[in-house]
Amino acid sequence: MLLAHIAGSLEPASRWTGRQVVVTAGPTREPVDPVRFLGNRSSGRMGYAIAGAAWRRGAAVTLITGPSEVPVPGELTDVRRVETAEEMCGELHAATEGADALFMVAAVADFRPRSPRANKIRRREGMSHIEVEPVPDLLAGIGGNGCIKVAFAVEFGKAGVDSARSKLEAKKAQMIVLNDPGEPGAGFEVDTNKVTIIDASGGTEELPLASKREVADMIMDRAERLLPGG
Ligand code: CTP
Repeated sequence: MLLAHIAGSLEPASRWTGRQVVVTAGPTREPVDPVRFLGNRSSGRMGYAIAGAAWRRGAAVTLITGPSEVPVPGELTDVRRVETAEEMCGELHAATEGADALFMVAAVADFRPRSPRANKIRRREGMSHIEVEPVPDLLAGIGGNGCIKVAFAVEFGKAGVDSARSKLEAKKAQMIVLNDPGEPGAGFEVDTNKVTIIDASGGTEELPLASKREVADMIMDRAERLLPGG
C-alpha cells in the first residue's frame, strides 16, 4: 500500500497526495496604536487541524496564520506568520499562485482603524471612538487560477445556512463550512466542533459533533471530491 508519509501518522495515499494546499488560520489583528488592536476570538485550532489533515494525506501545505497561542503542528514546515489582513492578503496571493486548493479558515477582521496611531494613546487623553474602515474580502479576491476555494463561515442560529449559502456565492467558493458557536461543543476555544457543509450545487450535510481533528478529516474527504476528475 502506498503511504502518504513514511514518518509521522501514516495515512493511505489519497488524491491530495502531491497537491499544493494553502490553509489560512487564526485571527487577524488590526492596530489601534502600538499596544492595542482590533481582533477576534479565533484560536487557530480548526485551521491547524485542516493543515494537519492535508499534510497527513501527502499534500504540500502552506499555512498562513494570524497570531495564535496554540502551537502549530510540528510537521508543517512552510508556515507564514502574519498579523494584519493586508499581510495575510500578500501571503495569500503569493501562496495560491499554482495551488490546487485554498482552505480559508482564518477569521479575518472585517474592520480596521482608519488611522492607527504611531504612539501609545494615553488614558488621560481619553478616546471617544475609533474610526474604522472595511477590510477587503480576501477570499473573494482570489480566483480564476484553477484553485479550489473552501470558505468557513461563522453564523449564529437557524438563518445560518441561507447566509452561508449567500457567502459561498458571493465569494465564488466551491464549498463552505458553517460553524455555529452557539451550538454545544462548537466554536472558538474548544477542541471539538460541529459543522454543516454546503457545496456549490446546494447540497447540505450536517456533520456530527467530533474533535477538530476528526472534523478536519471529514472536511478533507468532502473537499477531495472537488479536485479535478473527482
Ligand atoms: N473572509 C475573507 N476576507 C474578509 C472576511 C472574511 O476572506 N475580509 C473569509 C473568511 O476567511 C471565511 C469567509 O470569508 O472563509 C467567511 O467569513 P465570515 O467572517 O463568516 O464572513 P464575512 O464575509 O466577514 O461576512 P459577515 O461579516 O457578514 O459575517
